[in-house]
Amino acid sequence: MHIAVLAGDGIGQEIMVEAVRVLDALNLPDLRLDHADVGGVAYKNHGHPLPPATLDLAKTADAVLFGAVGDPDCDNLDRHLRPEQAVLGLRKEMQTFANLRPAKAFAGLENLSALKPDIAGAIDLLILRELTGDIYFGEKGQRKTDAGLREGYDVMAYDEEEIARIAHVAFKAAQSRRKKLCSVDKANVLQTSVLWREVVNEVASDYPDVELSHMYVDNAAMQLVRNPGQFDVMLTGNIFGDILSDQASMCVGSIGLLASASVGTGTKGLFEPIHGSAPDIAGQGIANPSAMILSAAMMLRHSFGMESEAVRIEQAVATVLQQGILGHDLGGSASTQEIGDAVVAQLAS
Ligand code: IPM
Ligand code: MG
Repeated sequence: MHIAVLAGDGIGQEIMVEAVRVLDALNLPDLRLDHADVGGVAYKNHGHPLPPATLDLAKTADAVLFGAVGDPDCDNLDRHLRPEQAVLGLRKEMQTFANLRPAKAFAGLENLSALKPDIAGAIDLLILRELTGDIYFGEKGQRKTDAGLREGYDVMAYDEEEIARIAHVAFKAAQSRRKKLCSVDKANVLQTSVLWREVVNEVASDYPDVELSHMYVDNAAMQLVRNPGQFDVMLTGNIFGDILSDQASMCVGSIGLLASASVGTGTKGLFEPIHGSAPDIAGQGIANPSAMILSAAMMLRHSFGMESEAVRIEQAVATVLQQGILGHDLGGSASTQEIGDAVVAQLAS
């Protein structure tokens, strides 16, 4: 089990320490962890947010455990040198086009949600976000208009293969869950979405047992807080998935709780919390490591077929929450390390 450990910037460093402790606590045989710089810290140390050595390690490892990138010191760098480019580059290079972002209420902890408890308690959904296309990767730049005004532009585009392959992943995911798939787009305005909807409908004929619906993204944002329990799998493009998954995290309780798996066609993947580097609280030891720890669980499940170990970690995190050991993001006072300690203690018990 060769794992590339890329902690990155800000709270990425602190939460990764706890995820590694959790992995160590499982006493897995053949576990090999190799650390490398990524993001702003890599720019500072090596002049590039995704140095060749880091990319090599990510490509040769069996899986990548990723913290977070983003550093205000780098805000004025050219776009290709910004920390965010590291994670975008990794996703693209590793061809992890499918990003799985599960959002499920923790039993008995509905009060953590920003929603009313009875509404929050029903959340059990999976956002399937396309990760290597869309407006994120289209042509972009700044130019001058005919009137001499500065204009920024980012091209949104998906080809039919990109849509079909993520749609297949989503239908299969729905088959293994409650067999409901809601595809989210903006087909009333965007031509990209018109094709998206067409292709998703075509792929649907391979999955007659899955109930497919379509929803405009604005409505989906509203439905996610009105009645999130209606969703099973939500399939959507890169930018809409980015936004909706942050929203879904507050429906569960906090962005510090949601993990993600970015996968392609094989078992290899990139596993990272859905949150960023949180520079405002970095270095204080108060970040919630749960999303990072849960990302490690997703890695064990997807890349190493270790379902029971993944479940053990997930149950340990849930138990710690139920014990009232809450981080600052959830109105508690437990430190990053205290939460890690508690999860490790659960695994030992
Ligand atoms: C995420 C993050 C990234 C994204 C940033 C850090 C580039 O917000 O993983 O959701 O936009 O995909
Ligand atoms: Mg995001």
